Amino acid sequence: MSKWWQIGIVYQIYPRSFQDSNGDGVGDLPGIEQRLDYLRDLGVDAIWISPIYPSPMADFGYDVSDYCDIHPLFGSMADMDRLIAAAHDHNLKLILDFVPNHTSTEHPWFLESRSSRSNPKRDWYIWRDPAPDGGPPNNWLSRFGGPAWTLDAQTGQYYLHSFLPEQPDVNWRNPELRAAMLNVLRFWFDKGVDGFRVDVSYRTMKDAQFRDNPPNPNWKPGMDPAKQVIETYTRNTPDIEHFNRWLREVSDEYDDRVLIGEINLPPHELVAHYGRSRNGLHLPFNFNLIFTPWEATAVRNLIETYETALPEGAWPNWVLGNHDQHRIASRVGADQARVAMMLLLTLRGTPTLYYGDELGMLDGDIPPDLVQDPWEKNVPGLGLGRDPERTPMPWTAVPHADFCPPTVTPWLPLNADSVTVNVASQRSDPGSMWVFTEKLIQLRRETAALHLGSYQSLPAPDGVLAYQRRHGFQTRWIVLNMTGDPKMWQLPEDGGATAVLLTTESTQPTFTGNTLPLRPNEGVVLAV
Ligand code: NOJ
Repeated sequence: MSKWWQIGIVYQIYPRSFQDSNGDGVGDLPGIEQRLDYLRDLGVDAIWISPIYPSPMADFGYDVSDYCDIHPLFGSMADMDRLIAAAHDHNLKLILDFVPNHTSTEHPWFLESRSSRSNPKRDWYIWRDPAPDGGPPNNWLSRFGGPAWTLDAQTGQYYLHSFLPEQPDVNWRNPELRAAMLNVLRFWFDKGVDGFRVDVSYRTMKDAQFRDNPPNPNWKPGMDPAKQVIETYTRNTPDIEHFNRWLREVSDEYDDRVLIGEINLPPHELVAHYGRSRNGLHLPFNFNLIFTPWEATAVRNLIETYETALPEGAWPNWVLGNHDQHRIASRVGADQARVAMMLLLTLRGTPTLYYGDELGMLDGDIPPDLVQDPWEKNVPGLGLGRDPERTPMPWTAVPHADFCPPTVTPWLPLNADSVTVNVASQRSDPGSMWVFTEKLIQLRRETAALHLGSYQSLPAPDGVLAYQRRHGFQTRWIVLNMTGDPKMWQLPEDGGATAVLLTTESTQPTFTGNTLPLRPNEGVVLAV
């Protein structure tokens, strides 16, 4: 029997940007509840909500000061309880974000830990003596710029932070910290939450000897400064499998829950996170489509590499966008956005869809004085900032698009094209990206070959990606023209095929014998 997280589609909500219900310009939990009908109509199966916990918001909620409560900006615990129940009433699963690598400096655990060297929670975080010259203990760097160590003047030691100084890393090797963190999972599972997306899960176990990371010979000025070193000792260390297993043991105390790990690794390293006997994470996020050139051969090679690397019993998954990556429509171009959606929703494995991508939303244009993201503030001008992909969801054509009242300033500006690119306009336009996405989701849902079937690459000319999905006697061919030129594709066998969905206006293609003509940027799902 397949699990809901295998055959379903996950939809990521960045809660600040989905729906503001109380007129403060920031999205919230009651806002999400108001939009559950929308999500059911779109046809997704689960929502993952980025962090909604109390937080000073140094990193917009990824700096948690209390794991078991709700930030007043987002609502109350009663709102969350209602949302869980309402999501379930809508047949939607609810996945929360678990941030186990670091807390906020405002978390009571850290306040205690930093209060003195002898505090019982001192070892809940990672404290080290200064180097002999008084500098940081080693060369580890923060992902958001500068060293990964900050000196605490009062106690004379450095604490580790893989991200901002406001986000101290906890020490998973300490059994008490570990127990406290695992109880956070139980707290939410007991409330009925269906799973967790685990923030930077592969960074939680650092090298126990604190060895220097090796220099990166390929780094050049102008590149992300954190990439000056190769992160041998700060991520994906050999004992990360213990961390995965600790979490899995807790989720196995409950029925039918899922753990999705945020792990940015190539396929052959990524798949280890399923665990030696599939006793690790259920779905180590596969981000490799994001980092592969948008070109048919490269994408085909990636799919094959990933499919081959997957161990027996490991369920695949695919991601095209999230709150840390530029919008897919901006990355591949608006013309290819539908092809990208068709790829995501016809590959083998669980797709995760980023809010707004169903509209083909582009990156927003954020004027310098409106920049919010700490990464852009710390390391400006390199395109690392994440505000462009976090702009509010446009619901209608009115000012502020019904995300928030027209009189209120939203926390990030709406995209300039939200007058035309919005849910209401697209739902009433049969040729829109929204209507196409909804049809594709329905097709995936009703076609076992697509949500369950095997994957096999098919021969195709340059620029075209073609593959077969098969379940029992049901076969579908997916043919994607990843270029702006017309192409021809030879059917792999006689007997003909019928188009069941096209990215372009849905008229049947005119086959010439066994040859399928493809228009520029056209994708087709064929029933065989
Ligand atoms: C990954 C999250 O997706 C990102 O938004 C955040 O800034 C870092 N982890 C730190 O928590």
